[in-house]
Order: sequence, then structure tokens, then C-alpha cells
Amino acid sequence: MSSTTLKPNDLDAFWQPFTPNKGFKKRPRILARAEGMNYWDDQGRKMLDASSGLWCVNAGHCRKEIASAIAEQAKTLDFSPTFQYGHPKVFQLASRVVELAPKGLDKVFFSNSGSEAAETALKVARAYFKAIGQPNRTKFIGRERAYHGVNFGGLSVGGLPNNSRAFGPLMDADFLPLQYDVKQGVFTKGEAEGGENYADALEAILEKNGPENYAAVIVEPMTGSGGVFVTPKAYLKRLREICDKHGILLIFDEVITGFGRLGYAFGAERYAVTPDMIAFAKGITNGAVPMGGTLVKGSIVEVFKEEHDWSIAMFHGYTYSGHPLAAAAGVATLDLYRDENLFEKARKLEPVFQEAVHSLKGAPNVIDIRNVGLAAAVELAPAAGAVGKRGYEAMQALFHEEGVVPRLAGDTIVLAPALIASESDVQHIVEAVKKVLSRIG
Ligand SMILES: Cc1ncc(COP(=O)(O)O)c(C=O)c1O
Repeated sequence: MSSTTLKPNDLDAFWQPFTPNKGFKKRPRILARAEGMNYWDDQGRKMLDASSGLWCVNAGHCRKEIASAIAEQAKTLDFSPTFQYGHPKVFQLASRVVELAPKGLDKVFFSNSGSEAAETALKVARAYFKAIGQPNRTKFIGRERAYHGVNFGGLSVGGLPNNSRAFGPLMDADFLPLQYDVKQGVFTKGEAEGGENYADALEAILEKNGPENYAAVIVEPMTGSGGVFVTPKAYLKRLREICDKHGILLIFDEVITGFGRLGYAFGAERYAVTPDMIAFAKGITNGAVPMGGTLVKGSIVEVFKEEHDWSIAMFHGYTYSGHPLAAAAGVATLDLYRDENLFEKARKLEPVFQEAVHSLKGAPNVIDIRNVGLAAAVELAPAAGAVGKRGYEAMQALFHEEGVVPRLAGDTIVLAPALIASESDVQHIVEAVKKVLSRIG
């Protein structure tokens, strides 16, 4: 079909990711413009963004500082390869990310998405063990309900069966249990105490299969896409101890938890646990230009010895690794986080957000509420024989009737406002959810 024969607003050609395309095209939800905490739809109706875009617009939409940095960069240097060459902004951004990272994680490998950031971490882990003469260490351990993107490595360690069902066989991996008690933990505010027992499951896996066969454990400091399952207070520390005991690398996938979602630059800081690698994406550019990255301990990178000045030690990279527009957006974004104290602002809003979301306890069909930082899950009982339907209807009603844009994880409504949210934005979102739940029954 030539472009002249396309109908204006034809919705047919775009195969939407992670979307029921049929339902969407019957009743579209079009976001046409944005600013701060708000979107406007294609009819000019103002909406409140309750999910920071897709967990990425942490400083609010269409920030002028970021837009100007991107425009300026596009006029100055549109593209430069980072294979064999480099450009000023990408070095600047890498140094700025390292400044925010836990001590020791002082190298950054750039990519274009969270999926690539996680994939890079897994590849580095395997390559590291080959380089230090432990080639048997090839296996990985993920966790139930985890999401590490959609590439084969990330899918293999991901714990959401719907995402991998159609695409196997995958890489061999083992899984830790979900770090949350779905029977007794319900309506817990913030982090539960303890949680070492969930981490101790790692010992059992290693004992069964031999620790010498494992390269890395990968976990999200907070299960995000899987439905906001909060990590208990002692859990990550215990995981770190077990990994150290057996010489296994610990990878934090901070694609969601990085850059302020938990009130700190990284979840690693909130929980005072230093992993060997951190995958990040999303908030690094405030969502304005795609970018991912993997922070790696210098002591790991050191083993990739380049034999000569002209030889490459790790054959990995993407055409757009550290793209100039993304790097410019990244530096401008980190400036905003710093200059507006946005991580601290999120920490201050957290108790208000917590009390507001937990006020939904008792609303029709609410079976659990979980929260940490500026992330919360309102889990609904599934409708009989139709898992996901009630959640979908709640999202539709929030969008079309209340002008609120939430995230959805099955029958769970996920709320993750930007770090610039006000108390009244939070109240507005929660009131809208309350109204919708009492209406849809
Ligand atoms: C923890 C985590 N890892 C990886 C990804 C994949 O990121 P992307 O969609 O940018 O590939 C996501 C996306 O939500 C994520 O939450």
C-alpha cells in the first residue's frame, strides 16, 4: 500500500507490542502530547500519567532541558560510531553514571534498551569466567516472576511464563522463589522484615547442581513488571553472601529501580548491597531517547586483557551503543535529577504515596496492595474463568472515564508516578482507582 492510500489515522499497520491489538483498535487509547505529569489524548483531553510513561519518565514529560540538549546534539554531531571511535558526550555520561553507582562499579557498557542491558550482563558473566579459566561456569539463576526483557538470555532467566512460552527452547536456568509470601504477606507496607529464607533457596539449588557450574544470579531489587513484589529487608544482603561464598556473580537488573524509583540512584544504595553488575535503561534518558547500559565492576573488566594495542578482548556491542542523542539526553537528565533533588523528593513522597495506596484496602475485589519507593501494586481478584479481564477493564475505565493512565500486570493495577508528582497528584490517582473499582465491581 502506498502512503497516499493510507487512511489518516489508520491503526491497522502497527502491530503493537504487549497489547491486545484487537481490543485496542476497537477503542484506541491515543496519547498525542505530554508535559510534566500529564498527557493529552488525540481529542485534547488532559490525562494524569500514573506510570511515568513505562517506568521511564522519572522527571516528568517533555522537559525543556532534555529536549534542548537533544536538539543541540542533533545539530552538532548526529551520529558517531563508538566502535573504534568515541564522542565527548558518551564519555561524560559514563563518568556521571559511575559517580552515582556503588563504589567499585566503575565501567559502563552502553546499549539501547533494558533487554540489551540485561543480555550484556549475562554475556559479560560468561566471558569473565572463560577469561579466568573457569569455563564450566555457564549457568544462570533467575527468580520467579522476574522480567529481564525479551531477548533470549533475558527470557531464559525471566520468570513470567507467558513471555517465553512461544519462543523456546531457551538457555538452561534455575529459579529462586518469589521473595514474597502471597498468603501471609498481603497488605504489607513497604519492605517486610527479614527474608533470608527466600535467599537461602539459592544454597539448595547450588547444592543440587554444583556451584562450580554457575556464572551468575540475576535479580531485580524490586520485581517490577511481574507486579511490584517488594524485596524484604535482609534478602539481598543474604544473596550477596551466598554468591560470595561460591564465587558466583550477582547482577542487579535496575532497569526500573534505577534513577530514583526507590528514592535513590540505584536500589543497591537503598539496600546497601553492592552487586557485581547493574543493568539500567529507562530513567537514564527520562525515556526521551532509547538507551540502556550495564555497570560492571572494574575488577571484572580487568580480566579482559587486550593482548595488543590493536586487538579486541570482548566481541560485543551495538551500532547505537552510546548514541550521541541518547548520551546528550542522559547528561541533561542526570543534571535534572541532581539540580531538582528528585531522588530525595521521591523519598519524601514515599510515605504519603504509601498511605494513599493502602487506603484502597477494602475496595471491591482488592486482594493485596504492595508498595516501595514510588511504585505500588493494587492486585484484584481475577474474574471467574477470565484471568486479566478485570484488570483490563479497570485500566480501560481509568483511561476513558477518569483520565488516568496506569500500568497493568494481569489483574494488578500498577501505579508509578514520576518523581515530580505532588501530593495532590497522588490523591487524584488513588481517588480515580477507588471510583473505578466501585463501578466495575
Ligand atoms: C527489570 C527490567 N529489565 C529489563 C527490561 C527490558 O527493558 P526494555 O523494554 O527497554 O528492553 C525491563 C522493562 O520493563 C525491566 O523492567
